[in-house]
Amino acid sequence: NLVYVLNGPNLNLLGTREPEIYGHDTLDDIAGQLEDRARELGLEIDMRQSNHEGHLVDWLHEAQAQAARAVILNAGAFTHTSIAIHDAIKSVRTPVIEVHLSSPHAREEFRHHSYVGRAARGTIAGFGALSYLLALEAAARF
Ligand code: DQA
Repeated sequence: NLVYVLNGPNLNLLGTREPEIYGHDTLDDIAGQLEDRARELGLEIDMRQSNHEGHLVDWLHEAQAQAARAVILNAGAFTHTSIAIHDAIKSVRTPVIEVHLSSPHAREEFRHHSYVGRAARGTIAGFGALSYLLALEAAARF
């Protein structure tokens, strides 16, 4: 009943990074909220962050090897650039839920295309930290 929660570049700075867009919760705050809800749902969370594209690819492979129930993925800016992450999602059977704090479609043109979204089971975006919790609700039902 393991759920991987993978976070990409610049999300280590959450809380101080453009708080008017991304909110004041830090990644640790979000991890705490997820852990509380996971306990109620009988799930276990493995939350990670990296600024390096290849780590996210490796961790997607690892999620399948560990028989994770799902991956919640906020790939940050790699969402809009990474064919490698797209292909990694396609390469594993583990369902991947794309999440974003902000709503990329309501922002700059360059955020409107998502390589992650083309491969993910579904997407939750625009609800701040709640996006992650909603993704966990979905993962609990897989
Ligand atoms: C983000 C949206 C991306 O466009 C951006 O590059 C991020 C954060 C979000 O959670 O809103 O780094 O993934």
